[in-house]
Amino acid sequence: MIPLCRSSDMEGSNEDTEEDKRVWCRRMKPAMWYLMMLIVGFFYVYLTAIQYIRGQQALQDPPSTYLKQYDPQYFDESLISPANALTFEYHNYTTMTDFLRAMSATYPNLTALYSIGKSVQGRDLWVMVVSSSPYQHIIGQPNVKYVANMHGNEAVGREMLLHLIEYLAKNYQTDDYVHWLLDNTRIHIMPSMNPDGFEVAREGTCQGGQGRYNARGFDLNRNFPDYFKQNNKKSQPEAEAVKQWISKIQFVLSANLHGGALVASYPFDNSPNTIFQQFTSTPSLTPDEDAFKHLASIYSFNHGTMHLGLPCKPGAPAFTNGTTNGAAWYPLTGGMQDYNYVWHGCMDTTIEMSCCKYPMAKQLPKFWQDNQEALVRYMGEVHRGVRGFVVDTEMRPVEGASIKVKSRDVGFQTTKYGEYWRILLPGHYSLEVYANGYDPAVEDFLVVDTNPTLLNITLYRASPEPDALPSGPNNHHTPPHSPPPSAAVPTSNPNASAIAITLFFTLTVHLVKFYRLFKYFSDRVSHHRRPVFIGGPAQSQGRPVPVHRPEFRAFSPPSRTKSPAFLIFSAEFSIASCPSIPEP
Ligand SMILES: *[C@@H]1O[C@H](CO)[C@@H](O)[C@H](O)[C@H]1NC(C)=O
Ligand SMILES: *[C@@H]1O[C@H](CO)[C@@H](O)[C@H](O)[C@H]1NC(C)=O
Ligand SMILES: *[C@@H]1O[C@H](CO)[C@@H](O)[C@H](O)[C@H]1NC(C)=O
Ligand SMILES: *[C@@H]1O[C@H](CO)[C@@H](O)[C@H](O)[C@H]1NC(C)=O
Ligand SMILES: *[C@@H]1O[C@H](CO)[C@@H](O)[C@H](O)[C@H]1NC(C)=O
Ligand SMILES: [Zn+2]
Repeated sequence: MIPLCRSSDMEGSNEDTEEDKRVWCRRMKPAMWYLMMLIVGFFYVYLTAIQYIRGQQALQDPPSTYLKQYDPQYFDESLISPANALTFEYHNYTTMTDFLRAMSATYPNLTALYSIGKSVQGRDLWVMVVSSSPYQHIIGQPNVKYVANMHGNEAVGREMLLHLIEYLAKNYQTDDYVHWLLDNTRIHIMPSMNPDGFEVAREGTCQGGQGRYNARGFDLNRNFPDYFKQNNKKSQPEAEAVKQWISKIQFVLSANLHGGALVASYPFDNSPNTIFQQFTSTPSLTPDEDAFKHLASIYSFNHGTMHLGLPCKPGAPAFTNGTTNGAAWYPLTGGMQDYNYVWHGCMDTTIEMSCCKYPMAKQLPKFWQDNQEALVRYMGEVHRGVRGFVVDTEMRPVEGASIKVKSRDVGFQTTKYGEYWRILLPGHYSLEVYANGYDPAVEDFLVVDTNPTLLNITLYRASPEPDALPSGPNNHHTPPHSPPPSAAVPTSNPNASAIAITLFFTLTVHLVKFYRLFKYFSDRVSHHRRPVFIGGPAQSQGRPVPVHRPEFRAFSPPSRTKSPAFLIFSAEFSIASCPSIPEP
């Protein structure tokens, strides 16, 4: 074995020529540069690896550049119902209001128009109920909702919902599925949550922010209380109206329709603080990950092209099956989706339905063709899982009982009729019910694919000395209707975090090792001007090893063609075994 640099007092040093010594010792200085580069390289590799594991880094806003290639270019007239009288053009506030009024007048038995409040500029926030019992809640029937155009310049969803209202009303008598849906569901449709923004947005504008915000310049999808972070944005009338609305009606399933991408995105949209958050997007999964992924897939697979997962333009993210976790794409604080789910247990997803935010009206027929089936099928998913009533021993409904499915720590509450609903995929579950003044109840049940499980729960008056319910410390911004006790923190993808932490510690360990090596070099070479000894100890030559010498050992005999980097790398692995190096 050939030593790299030999100290003059070492045994057998006379075997090497002076020339060898000069060459090898001169190469020690480049070693410092290699060391630096390795450190930089490690950081780079580390960050890249994190990026890779955690998914593609996204921009602050959904990518919005529009690519002609994925434009709806062809549209088959025959696929559009000939009876469809609603024109394929954009409806401003006046014409939209006229249409909604005309619909509710034409279909009084299927539709009811109401306003949940007014925008900053005084426009009504219209909601159309479509149901076979539009004016009356039928006990046990679930409520679903669609909200569109909360970003005023994302206009496709707005028109899609107008067409959906018409489609449902017109096909009630002729389409069995629509008939069944309206008989068993109360569907609330809000075509525009930001009518002020829409009025200043411009047709044909595929990206940009004009019209996105409300009249006071607030982004409504950043205007809700947040579970993970403090949201200090001043609450806007539009968001306030929606909060009131969803606190009065227990929605079970909903979607909000956006534009600027083509993907169905599901909670969480935000994630807990992590040291990596500045440069990564990490999945932030809910305990209902399976159900949410299913819901998002129902939309994307019933959509004309969403499930293909094509990027909107080269370089834009491609989403497998056209679905994504919100935070994995890009995290945001104050979104409506997380609020629906965490505060009210409503399964809400964000449907990005057009690469272009506000495409020309001539493309609307194609958009309707792509989205009609998806919009209709998605709502039907509310009839999946478990539902029933929570009653006391006298069969009176228990209002406001907190319910959670075991191991899914985002809860929800019963309505004033004691009703509850929860969307679940087939499997075995356990339901936990808590209410003030009652003993907690736990009930096991089975969910099948074909129809919802009906499960009534009877609560018994609490025993005289009720057990204090566990309430662990919680850093989260707890909803007013807080989830049941023991509601734990929903976690982000444990594996991504584990991998990130492992990588971080690996890097740290390597840096420490390199630092010690570096220090050793500088002590030996720079300060004392004495060459350092790297290479095989003398036992390779059959000679005894002086015990006081550091045991740097290359893995293979270093040849003169090997770079110092290799030697550093090799030495790095054995340096750990000799923590203190005695000064010769
Ligand atoms: C709304 O649209 C109608 C029909 O296109 C048009 O006549 C009307 O002027 C528009 N209203 C506003 C406020 O732009
Ligand atoms: C609505 O329902 C009532 C009673 O069921 C019926 O008499 C009436 O004709 C219906 N109206 C329409 C427009 O279908
Ligand atoms: C995409 O969808 C297919 C078909 O439903 C499914 O088998 C596959 O697991 C899905 N992939 C992902 C990543 O969800
Ligand atoms: C559950 O309770 C509701 C209302 O009290 C009742 O109508 C229904 O028949 C009950 N269902 C079962 C399966 O017990
Ligand atoms: C996380 O890792 C475990 C094993 O450590 C594995 O069983 C599981 O499938 C992984 N989950 C994901 C989402 O990768
Ligand atoms: Zn949007």
